[in-house]
Amino acid sequence: MRSLASLAALAALFPTALGQNNQSFVDYNHESNPDLFPQCLMHLNMSFPDCTSGPLSKNLVCDRSATPHERATALISLFTFEELVNNTGNTGLGVPRLNLPNYQVWGEALHGVGRANFQDEGDFSWATSFPMPITTMAALNRTLIQQIAQIVSTQLRAFSNSGHGGLDVYSPNINTFRHPVWGRGQETPGEDAYLTSVYGYEYITGLQGDPSTDSLKIIATAKHYAGYDIESWHNHSRLGNDMIITPQELAEYYMPPFITAVRDAQVRSVMCSYNAVNGVPSCANQYFLQTLLRETFDFHEDGYVSGDCGAVYNVWNPHGFASNESAASAASIRAGTDIDCGTSYQFYLEDSFGENLLSRSEIERGVIRLYANLIQAGYFDGPDARYRDITWADVLETDSWNIAYEAAVAGTVLLKNENATLPLSRDIQSVAIIGPWANVTKQLQGNYFGPAPYLSSPLSALQEESDLTVHYAFGTNISTSSTADFAAALDAANNADAIIFAGGIDGTIEAEAMDRESIAWPGNQLELIARLSELGKPLVVLQMGGGQVDSSSLKGNADVGALLWAGYPGQSGGRAIVDILRGKRAPAGRLVTTQYPASYAEEFSAIDMGLRPNASSGNPGQTYMWYTGEPVYDFGHGLFYTSFSESADGVDAGSFDIQELVTGSHGGFDRVEQGTLLNFSATVRNTGERESDYTGLVFVNTTAGPEPRPNKWVVGFDRLGSLEPGHQKVFSVPVTIDSVARTDERGNRVLYPGKYELALNNERSVVLSFTLEGEEAVLLQWPEDPEIVPDILLSQ
Ligand SMILES: *[C@@H]1O[C@H](CO)[C@@H](O)[C@H](O)[C@H]1NC(C)=O
Ligand SMILES: *[C@@H]1O[C@H](CO)[C@@H](O)[C@H](O)[C@H]1NC(C)=O
Ligand SMILES: *[C@@H]1O[C@H](CO)[C@@H](O)[C@H](O)[C@H]1NC(C)=O
Ligand SMILES: *[C@@H]1O[C@H](CO)[C@@H](O)[C@H](O)[C@H]1NC(C)=O
Ligand SMILES: *[C@@H]1O[C@H](CO)[C@@H](O)[C@H](O)[C@H]1NC(C)=O
Ligand SMILES: *[C@@H]1O[C@H](CO)[C@@H](O)[C@H](O)[C@H]1NC(C)=O
Ligand SMILES: *[C@@H]1O[C@H](CO)[C@@H](O)[C@H](O)[C@H]1NC(C)=O
Ligand SMILES: *[C@@H]1O[C@H](CO)[C@@H](O)[C@H](O)[C@H]1NC(C)=O
Ligand SMILES: *[C@@H]1O[C@H](CO)[C@@H](O)[C@H](O)[C@H]1NC(C)=O
Ligand SMILES: *[C@@H]1O[C@H](CO)[C@@H](O)[C@H](O)[C@H]1NC(C)=O
Ligand SMILES: *[C@@H]1O[C@H](CO)[C@@H](O)[C@H](O)[C@H]1NC(C)=O
Ligand SMILES: *[C@@H]1O[C@H](CO)[C@@H](O)[C@H](O)[C@H]1NC(C)=O
Repeated sequence: MRSLASLAALAALFPTALGQNNQSFVDYNHESNPDLFPQCLMHLNMSFPDCTSGPLSKNLVCDRSATPHERATALISLFTFEELVNNTGNTGLGVPRLNLPNYQVWGEALHGVGRANFQDEGDFSWATSFPMPITTMAALNRTLIQQIAQIVSTQLRAFSNSGHGGLDVYSPNINTFRHPVWGRGQETPGEDAYLTSVYGYEYITGLQGDPSTDSLKIIATAKHYAGYDIESWHNHSRLGNDMIITPQELAEYYMPPFITAVRDAQVRSVMCSYNAVNGVPSCANQYFLQTLLRETFDFHEDGYVSGDCGAVYNVWNPHGFASNESAASAASIRAGTDIDCGTSYQFYLEDSFGENLLSRSEIERGVIRLYANLIQAGYFDGPDARYRDITWADVLETDSWNIAYEAAVAGTVLLKNENATLPLSRDIQSVAIIGPWANVTKQLQGNYFGPAPYLSSPLSALQEESDLTVHYAFGTNISTSSTADFAAALDAANNADAIIFAGGIDGTIEAEAMDRESIAWPGNQLELIARLSELGKPLVVLQMGGGQVDSSSLKGNADVGALLWAGYPGQSGGRAIVDILRGKRAPAGRLVTTQYPASYAEEFSAIDMGLRPNASSGNPGQTYMWYTGEPVYDFGHGLFYTSFSESADGVDAGSFDIQELVTGSHGGFDRVEQGTLLNFSATVRNTGERESDYTGLVFVNTTAGPEPRPNKWVVGFDRLGSLEPGHQKVFSVPVTIDSVARTDERGNRVLYPGKYELALNNERSVVLSFTLEGEEAVLLQWPEDPEIVPDILLSQ
């Protein structure tokens, strides 16, 4: 058994580790309360193992001709039981006896290097802070996502090569942003499963390298698997939530981004989530971690699963799925949680083993998987391994600051623009900039960020980049009811030719461990905007923050000229916004979430995972696919400074025979459903007076298959660069066979015969119809969850 001395040493390393002091479960924000979770603070000075001399050099782990799996197996076979257990947590303690260095698994790179051993000054003192994913996705440019991830990967490698960080990160977050109250929706690319899948694909392959490569640049983690999209709504803690999800909606909505990440992008790490689904905590869920992940989605054979931080502990407390921490650890290992971000494994696996709850080889399996990936990232291959030559000079060579600016410009969405309020007229000499987002600093970065090289606020950008006279007033806070600063704000506005109000929400009300209870504008911001709108001057409102707020009163107020959403635009956010306001750049982003009326958040329970409308629970349908109410601004809404006309050669693409499609050639793809059904093409002409990018989303709707049917869903998107007035370009997106399939009650992906319409944007400015003929056919057979019986079987 484990010696008391080594347990005491562990306890000294992790003095307030969960479970050590009978702490009842607490939820915490990893960033604002790190002291509650000390292992997240442990920035180990990491070094690479020595394969030239010393104990490891003679072991197969140092033989580059062996496979990563063989090398990892040989390494782990050297470990004593206690050494093995010491390396099952995110803070891997290494093996001093073998000269194997410690390793910190917990890295973050949501939109830039987020957690590393940053220096106080000079090299490695900053990392580029790109916009949050919710903003970047709104740009509708896949190449941009790929480019950002490649830059982040280069920065991570430079940090790692200099001992400032590891070779893997817990990014990206690819849960769908189902309900607008979610505090972490800002971390995601929005509410649509297709967009989220594309984002995940680009971000993961940008970090790791091409899926077919045999050397990993950085190991990415697809999180949080699965059904995780609530933090704390109505005190329903994410740590103990049991989300009830039908097989149909699990397969249709909650899983596809993970299927793409695992099967197509070949992500090497998956994080199981805090919550349970249908009674089973994700980290102890064999159906999730074995049946779906490995047997159905073909997770890479060396891919590893890491628990969310503390999630293994939560399998016991508060889930009560296991009766104590050693049983929770055993249940998690056996289900397939390879690495515990936390300390349950390190403290309790020895007990689990002693209680005959699991074998040594079951513990080894996970550590072998982790090391097989580190090996493939060159961890044991010395300084001439691929990517080991990346230095801070390479960081400086990338165009990262510019790309951060371009992404912020591209992701900004113009929601309203009456009387051509924007861009601001050249007659305007002075502006008043008012509100809690005017003079922001870190708010620009959202969450999971590192130190930025600079932070450009709307106020500083106006002062530094424009020749306008700027009057600034704070006006009001995000959530306050105090009107103490209103007078100064009205004064500033009275002294200016135009007024900009910058507000909305921020990390004080939407955050990790914190959902919103209301989606109305918080505090008295709307009251101040109403007062400003009475002054008879051009008034622009910046609606900031990741989640949407109900802006219907601004939409309906004729004296509010323009409304712009920019989410969390990152280090260059202020400059990007100001350049758009002044017409130096033109907005072309589109909302990737629905803006619902405030009443939506009160109509039904936010932990109701059912997407389809349900009259008996008051659920009006969730996401643009199912919502039966009237949004304030639609998913996909976005205006331009110019006007475009769109046209197509035909309106009917004819018919396709389902049996021919599913038995036809794969056209170079692994699976038949990846093949292109048709290309949706339209000619887009700039009929206005300003140069602008163009963005388009292609939706499909159908009367095929059983009811209820979605309103529509996204099958493709693209962004066209700088169209000059009078010029035209062809907008063309391939529509895959899979994207026109639907999901049946068992979760199977099915092609149904019937009529379909493809339409460009919400305006349906180009519509192309086609028919599928023949018998319905299953594209992907969904395995049954042994724990639940689908309704369809009950009714038979
Ligand atoms: C395991 O880690 C603890 C805490 O660092 C340490 O005291 C102990 O010596 C380690 N055990 C072995 C066998 O390396
Ligand atoms: C932890 O709780 C158990 C059961 O309530 C109790 O027996 C034990 O003394 C407590 N330990 C500490 C360190 O408080
Ligand atoms: C890491 O290295 C720095 C500089 O050498 C040192 O100040 C710091 O204490 C080290 N941290 C740890 C956890 O060893
Ligand atoms: C959450 O719990 C706290 C403390 O018990 C309580 O004050 C608060 O009203 C609860 N909030 C909701 C929305 O239920
Ligand atoms: C923990 O739970 C397991 C499974 O119920 C049981 O076998 C074991 O004895 C328990 N351990 C302790 C220390 O109570
Ligand atoms: C803007 O914020 C910065 C830092 O938070 C502060 O130092 C500065 O005084 C503020 N500017 C104005 C005009 O209030
Ligand atoms: C705004 O909120 C901050 C932080 O909560 C507080 O320090 C500040 O005094 C508030 N200012 C106003 C004008 O309400
Ligand atoms: C826009 O024009 C309409 C009609 O002329 C006018 O009633 C309204 O006040 C104007 N709004 C703004 C914000 O200028
Ligand atoms: C609809 O809501 C009712 C009441 O909450 C619930 O019992 C039922 O299971 C729901 N139906 C579906 C299909 O989710
Ligand atoms: C779609 O367009 C691509 C690229 O232009 C072309 O290679 C492909 O053959 C087209 N596919 C179909 C089904 O028309
Ligand atoms: C698609 O939606 C449009 C607009 O709601 C509707 O007019 C059309 O009939 C629908 N087409 C099909 C094939 O369902
Ligand atoms: C999309 O992003 C890439 C990479 O940043 C960029 O080169 C390209 O110009 C962008 N396309 C458009 C249409 O903005």
